[in-house]
Amino acid sequence: MNILVTGGLGFIGSHTVVELTANNHEVIIVDNLSNSKIEVLDKLHQITGRRPAFHQIDVTDETQVEDIFLTHKIDGVIHFAGLKAVGESVSKPLEYYYNNLVSTMVLSKLCLKYDVGKFVFSSSATVYGDQPSPLKEEMALQKTTNPYGETKAISERILTDVSQANEGFSVSLLRYFNPVGAHESGLIGEDPHGIPNNLMPFVTKVAKGKLEGLSVFGNDYETVDGTGVRDYIHVMDLAEGHVKAIEKLSSGVNIYNLGTGRGISVLELVKAFMQVNHVEVPYEIVERRPGDVAICFADAGKAEEELGWKAKRSLEDMVRDAWKFEVNNS
Ligand code: WQD
Repeated sequence: MNILVTGGLGFIGSHTVVELTANNHEVIIVDNLSNSKIEVLDKLHQITGRRPAFHQIDVTDETQVEDIFLTHKIDGVIHFAGLKAVGESVSKPLEYYYNNLVSTMVLSKLCLKYDVGKFVFSSSATVYGDQPSPLKEEMALQKTTNPYGETKAISERILTDVSQANEGFSVSLLRYFNPVGAHESGLIGEDPHGIPNNLMPFVTKVAKGKLEGLSVFGNDYETVDGTGVRDYIHVMDLAEGHVKAIEKLSSGVNIYNLGTGRGISVLELVKAFMQVNHVEVPYEIVERRPGDVAICFADAGKAEEELGWKAKRSLEDMVRDAWKFEVNNS
C-alpha cells in the first residue's frame, strides 16, 4: 500500500517508516521538522535502501496537505505529527489544541474527499487518566491532567464520529504507553530538541556526560521501590504494531493498547541501563512531578488477539539500543 506518514521523521514515525518499507509498502513522509531533523531521511535511506518521498509541510495547512493527496495515490494514513510535551502543553494550551486537532480534522476531511479509507492514529495511554492498571481499551476515558492528553482524547472522538458517519472510513486508535529504545543500527532514535522531558533520553544524556545527573521524581509511591512504574515498550515493537494495525484494519473504529503489559519502575530501568551498558547514571531522589500517576501499564491482550501482535523485545534490548543511539549520535 501507499502510506502517508505524518511526522515520519520523528522518533516513532521514522521507526515505523523502516518497518513499513521492510514490508514492501510505499511511504510518503510529511513533516514540518519542528521536533525532527532532515538528516533522518538519509538515515532511513541507509537502513532500508530506499528513499521515501518527503515533503516539508505543516499538516494544519489544508492547501499544502491537499497538494500531497493530489500528487500521490494514498491508500492509508498514519498520523504521528503533533506536539507532545505534557508540561509544555500546560503553558501553551492553544498551540496544542490548534496544532493537534486541526491536523486531525484536515487529514480526515481530505481522506473523505479522496476516498482514503484507512486511518491509523497515534494516541496515548494518557487518555485513561489516573485509573488503576492494567488499563483496558473498553475502560471509560477520564479527563486527563493536561492539554496534550486532552488533544489525544478529543482527536479520538473526532475520528470515531467521522468513521461512524462515513462507512468507508476505518480508523485504528493506537494508545502508546512509554516508547523507548532505538533501531538496532543506532542510526535513528529518540532525539528531542533541548532538554528531554522523558526519562530514557534524559538517562542516556546523563550517561554520556551531557547532563549532570538524573532527578528521580519521587520515591514515596505505593510501588515496588517507591518510584513511578510505567509500561516501557521498545520503539521497534511499536513500529511493528503500526504495520499490523494498518494491514489488518477492519471497518469501523478499532482501539488498541500498544504496551508490553509489564510495569517497570524508574530505578529498575536506571539499574538495568547501568548494568547492561556498564556506565554510571548518577541520580538523586527529588520531589514528585506534578501530574504524574504512580502506576501505568497496559492490558495488551486485545492487540495480540486481533492483530496477532505482541511486544517481544526485553528491557535489556531497550536500554542497550537507547545507549547505542546516544553513543552513535553524539
Ligand atoms: C516516566 C517515569 C517520571 C523524567 C509521558 C506522557 C505520555 C508519553 C510519554 C508522549 C515517570 C519519571 C521522568 C525524569 C523521572 N508522551 N521521570 N525523571 O510521564 O510516563 O509519559 O511521556 O507521547 O503521553 O504522559 O513519561 O518518561 O516523562 O516519565 O523520574 O527526568 O519517569 O516521574 O515515573 P510519562 P516520562
